[in-house]
Amino acid sequence: MEICLFPATLQSWTGDVLVVGMFEGDMEDRLNDLEKRCGGSLAQRLEQKMFTAKSGEIANFQLLQSNPSQLVIVGLGEAQKLMLDDLRKAAALGARASIGSSGTLGMMLPWEPLVPATAAIAIAEAVRLSLYKDVRFRSTPEPRSTPTKLELIGLPDTAGADLQTVHPICAGVELARELVAAPPNSLTPASLAETAAQLAHEHGLQLKVLERADCAEKEMGAYLAVCQGSDLDPKFIHLTYHPQGPIQRRLALVGKGLTFDSGGYNLKVGTAQIELMKFDMGGSAAVLGAARAIAELRPKGVEVHIIVAACENMVNGSAVHPGDIVRASNGTTIEINNTDAEGRLTLADALVYACEQKPDAILDLATLTGACVVALGDEIAGFWTSDEHLAQGLSTAADAAGEGLWRMPLHSSYRDGLKSLHADLKNTGPRPGGSITAALFLKEFINESIPWAHIDIAGTVWSEKGRGLDPSGATGYGVRTLVNWICSQS
Ligand code: BES
Ligand code: MN
Ligand code: ZN
Repeated sequence: MEICLFPATLQSWTGDVLVVGMFEGDMEDRLNDLEKRCGGSLAQRLEQKMFTAKSGEIANFQLLQSNPSQLVIVGLGEAQKLMLDDLRKAAALGARASIGSSGTLGMMLPWEPLVPATAAIAIAEAVRLSLYKDVRFRSTPEPRSTPTKLELIGLPDTAGADLQTVHPICAGVELARELVAAPPNSLTPASLAETAAQLAHEHGLQLKVLERADCAEKEMGAYLAVCQGSDLDPKFIHLTYHPQGPIQRRLALVGKGLTFDSGGYNLKVGTAQIELMKFDMGGSAAVLGAARAIAELRPKGVEVHIIVAACENMVNGSAVHPGDIVRASNGTTIEINNTDAEGRLTLADALVYACEQKPDAILDLATLTGACVVALGDEIAGFWTSDEHLAQGLSTAADAAGEGLWRMPLHSSYRDGLKSLHADLKNTGPRPGGSITAALFLKEFINESIPWAHIDIAGTVWSEKGRGLDPSGATGYGVRTLVNWICSQS
């Protein structure tokens, strides 16, 4: 989809679908303008539809004329309360209403008092991401037409400055969605490594893949324990973005990459929704999606390491027994008292490896705990860090992206819950506070001098019913926050 500003007024705009935003109690001027452009007595017809421009309201008119042949009016709520997220929601609603039409979509949403360049990006991202549909696994996709061009009407020239960032970022989000949505018989550790290779090839990134033997040599006993019951070989992926010119900051992004999590011998039963556990590589999808975006945006001054210890958690005669004791690559011994807490085992060795790269900061993203879903639901991810500066930076990046992110406590006394009778650590503590002990477990594998944050995306990786810009299913959560955060460091 081509995206641009329309530099003139509504009266001179031509196109196929027109989406116009209105504020509650302030529709008159806009309606006059619209009636002049589209004809008809809109005020009366809106009244019939009981449209009052509340946020989330929509009125859809198929017009008898062409140019435009469809008019969509979306509500933005009260003018004084306008937030970026209202624009995103309205843009997504309007864009979805345009499905079935083709040609040019014009969108005129009031943006004051927001910054026009920020408003333009938010609207454009919302349109592209809400029109995305994944039909890769259908034999015959239903025919579906969508507008091929988006024109943003009523924004000043300055709003166009950063519009070219929209496509790389959205392509990153869509890659993450496609990786998460792909079933586990298609998206395997090998195919994830293949995706990384393709990114490296197409966008000039550096790639190193460690095979099982390489990981054994590095004594990654925690990671290798997780995949020893699987017929598929693990792939430890290390992708690097090198900027042009001098390097100011070196960052590491680590993503949990379980292409399927059966739970192991602590098998997922009952309501655990084992069939959804293809999404257990959502962390790796987010960091690879961010890598794709970064590789195209090419921010200066930051080197970014993307690290994924990819594998499957399965059962067979070689699988880990509940109770096994293994040794991670930093020498820490772990009693695996629950084989379903496998993500933190893979991350343990991935984080040790990340620390060895001596970065200035480490972020990990993981669909780590059901406890985080219970705490924060499916619209907000949790994050843990002891670094105030990193906490600030992440919150700012997530706010700007419109992705829910809430800081959680790294409460050190809960570390006692991980004490093992014979090993240095158990991999799971008591059920209460389960997302916190998971974060404390990871902390054991971090070099204290490196700022680190852990983000639990177990709830946000998937949306049962769809929300905002996200269709139902894989959301691509995290990509936009990561890209904002990385670019803020450059
Ligand atoms: N991948 C799951 C976490 C998860 C659960 C994500 C539900 C999304 C929805 C993880 O590997 C896991 O199984 N965690 C266990 C940990 C427990 C055994 C301490 C959990 O949360 O139940
Ligand atoms: Mn698990
Ligand atoms: Zn898992």
